[in-house]
This record gives sequence, C-alpha cells and structure tokens, in this order.
Amino acid sequence: MISKDMTAQLNAQINRELYSAYFYLGLSAQADRANLKGAAAWFFAKHGEEMAHALKIYRYIIDQDAEVHFSDIAAPPASSEGVMHMFEQTLAHEREVTGAINALVDKALQEKDHATNVFLQWFITEQIEEEATVNDILGRLRLFGDKGQGLLMIDNELAGLARQMSQGLGTESAG
Ligand code: FEO
Repeated sequence: MISKDMTAQLNAQINRELYSAYFYLGLSAQADRANLKGAAAWFFAKHGEEMAHALKIYRYIIDQDAEVHFSDIAAPPASSEGVMHMFEQTLAHEREVTGAINALVDKALQEKDHATNVFLQWFITEQIEEEATVNDILGRLRLFGDKGQGLLMIDNELAGLARQMSQGLGTESAG
C-alpha cells in the first residue's frame, strides 16, 4: 500500500520516462537523417530502455494496488545542432531525471515508505551509470572531434554500445 501522494508522484515519473523515450526516439530520427547510424542505434536503444523504465514503475504501482494514471506526453525538441549538441542535450536531460528520482526518494523517506524507497534504489544506480556513459561519450567527442575520422570512430563505438544495450534490455525485461 502506498499513499495517494506517492502514487501521484510515481505516475508523474512514468510520464517523465515516457517523455524520455520520446526524446531519444526524436534524437534517433535526427541522427539517422544525418547518416550517423551508430548514434541513431544508440538513441534508439535508449528509447527502449526508457520504455522499460516506465513499465517498471507501471508494474510497481499495480503491484501496490494503486491506480496508474496517464497524462499527455510533451513533444521532444525538433532539432539539434549536430552530434555534440545531441549528447549535451542528453546529459542535461538525464541530470533532470536524476533530480526527479532523488526527489522521489526524498518523498519515500519522508513518508517512511520503505517499499518505494527500496524500489527506487534501482533507478538511483541506473542514473549514475547513465550519466557516466553520456559523460564518457561527450569526453570522447571533445577529444577526437565531432567531425571526420573522429566522428566515424565514435559512431562505430556507439553502434557497438547499442548492440550491448539491446542485449541488456532483453535480460532486464525478463526480470
Ligand atoms: Fe529512465 Fe534515463 O532515465
């Protein structure tokens, strides 16, 4: 059993996760149009991860015998100024999500809602990993360049990362 307020906050987080999926799908389409196949695959895999995050919370709310409530999903940004900007937008977005997850944990602690607190710990760890990965990609783009050979190398790396993420998603959704 979770409080009405906690349920409302978790429903708001479902919306944020669905927006995240939409955000990454938008970036994937932009990367594809720019012929950045690796980046497109990476953003597409992120879309899948975010959908899985939304469904994790959806399942938790149902398991707690509380009510799932959907609301409108905002449109993602229509365009980016190149690949560096795409990943800068990604980092800024994930930092916002981290802030939202932290606020949810604060609420769970305040309500002494141990179940929700434990449930959210997975998201805390996930956000650390997500921010670190994007920071690493941004660092490599700055080091090797976001054009020519440097970009080609990073785009190939992103294709490899996307494959790993897709495989990870398979095991995650089974859990
Ligand atoms: Fe679901 Fe990237 O946070």
